[in-house]
Amino acid sequence: MAQVKILAFAGSLRKDSYNKKLVKVAIKGAEAAGAQVTYLDLRDLQLPIYDGDLEAEVKLPEGGRRLKDLMESHDGFLISCPEYNSSISAALKNAIDWASRPQHGEKP
Ligand SMILES: Cc1cc2nc3c(=O)[nH]c(=O)nc-3n(C[C@H](O)[C@H](O)[C@H](O)COP(=O)(O)O)c2cc1C
Repeated sequence: MAQVKILAFAGSLRKDSYNKKLVKVAIKGAEAAGAQVTYLDLRDLQLPIYDGDLEAEVKLPEGGRRLKDLMESHDGFLISCPEYNSSISAALKNAIDWASRPQHGEKP
């Protein structure tokens, strides 16, 4: 059976994030179970806040394109996210919003 590819990241941008530490522990478990894991730091994507006018201008910002390519080339995601006001972080929601936008004739 082909090795399962997992994209792992935390929904926190800060350097000393507990969720970054946690997802790295979980990565070890996934690798021990046989998965091939790619770790991504969302901060490296430098994603702007989703803005439909910016999207009309540039389609996807570079970081959004990178995230979408990574998501499409992996079988599943391993995400650790802080709770912010009883919800997910804005960083995670914003990343999902950009990556979910259809590109070049893709269906929404
Ligand atoms: C804006 C904001 C909202 C938060 N809301 C909650 C919350 O609703 N519940 C909770 O348990 N912790 C809440 N926290 C605490 C964070 O979840 C906590 O600081 C967490 O460690 C942040 O994740 P990180 O260490 O990966 O950066 C909040 C923190 C911030 C900055």
